[in-house]
Amino acid sequence: MIRFILNGAPASTEAHPFTPLATTLRDGFGLTGTKVGCEAGDCGACTVLIDGAQACACLVPTGQAEGARITTIEAEEPLLDQLRLSFLAHGAAQCGICTPGMIMAAAELLRRDPTPCVPAVEDAIGGVLCRCTGYRAIVAAVLDAAPRLAPAPAAGAAVGAAIARLDGWPKVRGTESFGADAAPAEALWLRVVRSPHASARFTLGDLDAARRALGLHAILTHRDVPGENRFGVLPGFRDQPVLAEGLVRFRGEAVLALVGDRTAVEAVHDAALPIAWEVLPALHGIEAALAEGAPLLHAHAPGNILVRGGLTTLSPAPSSPSPAARGRVGVGVREDQRTPAAHAPPSPSPVHGGGPGWGDKDQRPPAAHATATFTTPFVEHAYIEPEAGFAIPTEHGVTITACTQAPWMDREETARTLGVPDHQVRIIPSACGGGFGGKLDVSIQPLLAIAARKLNRAIRIVYSRTESMASTTKRHPAILHARMDADAEGRFTRYELDADFNTGAYASWGPTVANRVPVHASGPYRVPHVRNRTRAVHTNDTPAGAFRGFGVPQAAIATESLVDDLAAQLGLDRWEIRRRNAIGHGDATPSGQVLHASAGLPQCLDALKPDWDAMLAEAAAHNATNPRHRLGAGIACMWYGCGNTSLSNPSRMRLELTREGRLTLFNGAVDIGQGSTTVIAQIAADALGLPLAALGLVIGDTARTPDAGKTSASRQTFVSGRAAYEAGRALRHRILQLANAGEDARLALDDGALTVTDRAGPRRVTLHEDLVAEGAYDPPTTPLDADGQGIPYATYGFAAQLALVRVDTALGLTKVLRIVAAQDVGRAINPMLTIGQIHGGIAQGLGLALMEDFRPGLTENLHDYLIPTAGDVPDIRVHLIEDPEPEGPFGAKGVGEPALVPTAPAILGAIRHATGVTLRQVPVLPHRLWEALHVR
Ligand code: FES
Ligand code: FES
Repeated sequence: MIRFILNGAPASTEAHPFTPLATTLRDGFGLTGTKVGCEAGDCGACTVLIDGAQACACLVPTGQAEGARITTIEAEEPLLDQLRLSFLAHGAAQCGICTPGMIMAAAELLRRDPTPCVPAVEDAIGGVLCRCTGYRAIVAAVLDAAPRLAPAPAAGAAVGAAIARLDGWPKVRGTESFGADAAPAEALWLRVVRSPHASARFTLGDLDAARRALGLHAILTHRDVPGENRFGVLPGFRDQPVLAEGLVRFRGEAVLALVGDRTAVEAVHDAALPIAWEVLPALHGIEAALAEGAPLLHAHAPGNILVRGGLTTLSPAPSSPSPAARGRVGVGVREDQRTPAAHAPPSPSPVHGGGPGWGDKDQRPPAAHATATFTTPFVEHAYIEPEAGFAIPTEHGVTITACTQAPWMDREETARTLGVPDHQVRIIPSACGGGFGGKLDVSIQPLLAIAARKLNRAIRIVYSRTESMASTTKRHPAILHARMDADAEGRFTRYELDADFNTGAYASWGPTVANRVPVHASGPYRVPHVRNRTRAVHTNDTPAGAFRGFGVPQAAIATESLVDDLAAQLGLDRWEIRRRNAIGHGDATPSGQVLHASAGLPQCLDALKPDWDAMLAEAAAHNATNPRHRLGAGIACMWYGCGNTSLSNPSRMRLELTREGRLTLFNGAVDIGQGSTTVIAQIAADALGLPLAALGLVIGDTARTPDAGKTSASRQTFVSGRAAYEAGRALRHRILQLANAGEDARLALDDGALTVTDRAGPRRVTLHEDLVAEGAYDPPTTPLDADGQGIPYATYGFAAQLALVRVDTALGLTKVLRIVAAQDVGRAINPMLTIGQIHGGIAQGLGLALMEDFRPGLTENLHDYLIPTAGDVPDIRVHLIEDPEPEGPFGAKGVGEPALVPTAPAILGAIRHATGVTLRQVPVLPHRLWEALHVR
């Protein structure tokens, strides 16, 4: 018996002394506010106080707690209440999975130092990772000794109010239920056996004997998949087996599923299983996969090329109001093209096809010409919550509760693998501890479903950190050959890109990346001649999928670097060349789409100009006397289409007002921390004309809420928000009709009593039936033609960012000192949450620039794979630019992905300004920069 004081009360446990304290707290005491993100002391999600000092509960054996005072997030303590309130008031909890650990770490500091300085706060929370917030809001929350929540907005005033997130209290209390936090007590555990080889055949021995010997309930193989043993995310590209069929294509691919009691399942060593491997040569990296004679991963992808994309313009018409006036030649964006014969062959030139050809006869020699090759690595999402959830069998199907970004897609994919109609699968999303695109693809869902059906038992699974990193999708590594020209006035005249993206062993979102990049690659600029070609290439690496930007961040690194090259050649200021070329109202994009509204890049750049001038002056003054530690300023721009590329992208929302006067929004959009639950409710409330506080919420359950589509592509505020707006307007219309009142009437709902007030005065409206109103929205887009011409997105986000860095030239170390961002968000529905998204994107962009480099088999944990900590993310200033989007709800458009895109190129530009060294490979690790400074 181990005895200690737990949250102020005596407690005891018979847990094994070596059982991690985190496990004892969660499983033995039900204190699931202590989260587990790595079990290795890397993430800090499990931080508790032991005798007042913060400790990682995953590393502390329960036996060491004997006689100690242990404090967890569930404790009742005024200081914790102050921190909870402050985290809400500052928007410091987004997904919330790190929040308990953060609050405990902060509490330790504030107990000994009630008025700490910023570095002390950064130091205190330095061991707790947050992937969502960019930390600055957390630091502000810890420093705020007297936090106050913004008051509840009145009717019609919710939009634009910086209110605390509506789903915030459970996150700061530690009661939020993530995928690993709950499951039926009788649930069996499932563990996946994965390939240790990147390419191999395998045969299975006597699994029944193994099952008996190991004390398991079942060992499942592909033969146990009752439906189609394939999943994916795009029609025509479902190519990944739930369980491999004698062949694996990447290290970490699922081979078997072990099901049984937890102890039995966890005791199994893979070597004890009868699997005979025949290791095959593996293709790692794009060059290996494209090499002549390289083995093929899939018969349907000759040359290992999954798909090609492209965009070509011929006649310059960047300011023409009529895209029809443009000539077009070349290859286009076609997700369904799978044969290399359909596309131009690659050129030996760094820029494919780079000699005369496309458009050359139309151009005079450029005054400035830049060309270069860029490389980017795999980037891991590193959400702090590994995949987890449980399934319960139903009469004809299954109900799955798990973390996800895409419940409706999960339903479809799971039903297919079960061989049942979609409606037999119900998906109830748990709270989602970060996603960033990595929880768009199904992972655990089909496995849980198959096991639950097969054993007719509840089944649960919790991925380890290593399993999560080894088996789930990443940002696509890329090799980009880019060329850009400008005339003597610095006006861009031409842009070409040939880019290959490593999509790994399976398709996932490879076609989407190949499709989106050609549209965006030339940047948010007027460029008359554009020719972009992309390929998604299969390798034996981890599948690459969706990650905040779908390839656009990689392309922006190339393009913005070339813009700096052109500015240098022409002797132009880097802000100036961007401002001269910035796309704006009335301009046409390379796909021939005219931007009739909400194109606020010029305003973003104008907002940043004073900061830019100040940064340049600061760097010049500093560098005059500091030869070793050099300051540099960088600038980059971006644009980003909101929603799917030229694909239907609908969302539906439902509002109900019962006869008893209970108002409920049924919102199927999954909030992965970005704040859609709050923002969509703000929109619905104002469209309806009732206070936000009157609104009850039912969130994200495929059996109860309409299909709001995926939480991806920066679409929920724009698309689902517009659907919520339509639902609000529709319900308001019904009420006004019943009251025979005019459009400008005011509504009130007090204790269930509905009142309508117009010029005739107030009158009570009695409902004889429940009122139900649905709103739907599908952004107006058109397919892209063979030249990549059309309207791929209904609207775009625009942004520009400045970075100030300090480089230690003796060591090659880069420290980002400041980021200033200006982003056109259309309308900030909730400015606090909007800024929170921008901060989070910047932090991930910083990681992309300086530290993140996922290597399959080498960096499958959070001590070898580094993400920014509180000490790495600098002061961030944000200018919100509101150029309203007429299609968007109250003028709003997407925010989440755009903020990440310009950060890395701005940092690279700043390093170049500080040192004179141009780096074309990210991350800029110290040894790379040192080598560039001292060896080349
Ligand atoms: S779970 Fe303990 S440090 Fe990550
Ligand atoms: S809020 Fe920190 S990881 Fe999501």
